[in-house]
Amino acid sequence: MKIRKAVFPVAGLGTRVLPATKAMPKEMLTIVDKPLIQYVVDEAKEAGIEHFVFVTGRNKGVIEDHFDRMFELDSTLAARGKKAEQDILARDQPEAGAMSFTRQQAPLGLGHAVWCARDIVGDEPFAVVLPDELVLNNPGCLKQMIEAAEKLGGKSNLLAVEAVPDHLTHQYGICGVGKRLAANMFEVDGMVEKPPKGTAPSNLSITGRYILQPEIFKILETQERGAGNEIQLTDAMKTLSGTQSFYGVEFEGERHDCGSKAGFLRANIAYGMARDDLRDGLRAEMKNYLEK
Ligand code: G1P
Repeated sequence: MKIRKAVFPVAGLGTRVLPATKAMPKEMLTIVDKPLIQYVVDEAKEAGIEHFVFVTGRNKGVIEDHFDRMFELDSTLAARGKKAEQDILARDQPEAGAMSFTRQQAPLGLGHAVWCARDIVGDEPFAVVLPDELVLNNPGCLKQMIEAAEKLGGKSNLLAVEAVPDHLTHQYGICGVGKRLAANMFEVDGMVEKPPKGTAPSNLSITGRYILQPEIFKILETQERGAGNEIQLTDAMKTLSGTQSFYGVEFEGERHDCGSKAGFLRANIAYGMARDDLRDGLRAEMKNYLEK
């Protein structure tokens, strides 16, 4: 069954990047010249996603505004003959009705955020995309995942995974490695959210891209709190893995954690250097700066 919908949990408070996120959602932080949320929506569009479901929270209204039309801006640009700027806005404009917004009313965890999207997703497989992680690659990470899911068929669940240094495994969801199906794909053998130091089954972290079957919602409905006293998606996935297959996909691309200050700065440089229109100027500026 085609994967048509993607869920973007965007209710987080962004405490790792205060004070930037005091009044502004972290998903609106800018990498080069686009907010984070626009990058992940573009990645989902490229992967064939048709409906974009945002699980928001208080103070996140500007995300919805970002995807609306701005008539005053449009008409001013038109009146001034600013065609290139108009094209940028037109390029990013979603089709009417292609987005849904629902609120997670309390910060109960990623599992709870995904559960909030249950009625909008309905009874079909869907993607989950965490917007503070960007993956720089062509094709994008979600496209790689959806292609892998289509090849596997059936009731398959897929996780994008990446190796992290052993001393950092306690910060992530970690999955155990079962039978290898391909150089970059394996059957998941156990999952654990934020394992205490020294107990992780591997160093493969679950990153911010998932393909899930709708049966996850029923499990999330009664999922008890886990690591960090939050309702964890990883715990619900572990239960679902008792009846359905889970696969780890070691995707191609460079992962950027934009929810940390250092990661955010690194992403700005990486995405700037990936742009033909900015690379030379940016390189010259950085060279000047470093030689000062
Ligand atoms: C969440 C997930 C975790 C995953 C991580 C990736 O954790 O619960 O399994 O490894 O995202 O960024 P969080 O970063 O929200 O604590």
